[in-house]
Amino acid sequence: MTFWGYLDNKSWRAESFPCLFNADYTPKLAAYAVLDPDKFLSYYQMEEEVTVNNKAQAKYGTPVIDAEVDAAWESCPEVSVSNQVMAWEGATGKARVLWDEAFVYALIEVKDSVLNRQSSNAYEQDSVEIFLDQNNEKNGFYDENDGQYRVNYFGAESFGTVPTTPGFASATKEIDGGYLIELAIPLLTTAKEGMIMGFDVQINDSNNGGMRQSIAKFNDMTDNSWTSTDKWGSLELAK
Ligand code: BGC
Ligand code: CA
Ligand code: CA
Repeated sequence: MTFWGYLDNKSWRAESFPCLFNADYTPKLAAYAVLDPDKFLSYYQMEEEVTVNNKAQAKYGTPVIDAEVDAAWESCPEVSVSNQVMAWEGATGKARVLWDEAFVYALIEVKDSVLNRQSSNAYEQDSVEIFLDQNNEKNGFYDENDGQYRVNYFGAESFGTVPTTPGFASATKEIDGGYLIELAIPLLTTAKEGMIMGFDVQINDSNNGGMRQSIAKFNDMTDNSWTSTDKWGSLELAK
């Protein structure tokens, strides 16, 4: 076994977080795996059976997409986007959701003190992704009502697989210690109170070298949300 140093931040390969200990000397999960592989595996497999099942609630209302926090947002419960998917624990955020007959709207406030968009890969730039499955089917693939929508802190939009409905809109603004994104996702069919959709939020955190150092999620603990909808959380359309 080869270790590329002792502490993640001190390694000459620090950009890939290759060590057994975090910068603050705390052991990473990997340290326990090396210490006692059998015990680690039995525990880890047990843990894996527990599926995270976070539910968000959207309130009824139509905001103006201008990166200003309209009164409509005030009644919305906030959900936390803080499940760290990579070894490094970087930017996190809070998300709120609104809906009306034709759109699902999201407002995401991200805490990130170093903003960077120099990577040619949109997902390595400081950005937010929303995953929405309008039928909550929890499939291992994307079908025609599933979408991956990304907006970086500077307002650049990019998309994975998305439904063909026109009308996506977004607005962004830098705020104290981070940035804010407000966006509108057009729906395929008329939304109604009580509907449940598949839903996740991902925050990509770029370091000042333009490389993604962390991914934070609302629910899905994998980096597979862009190919599979099965581990996304859910969203209830409430009044
Ligand atoms: C993932 C990347 C992936 C990209 C594709 C992102 O959500 O984090 O790993 O390559 O989607 O669009
Ligand atoms: Ca679907
Ligand atoms: Ca950043």
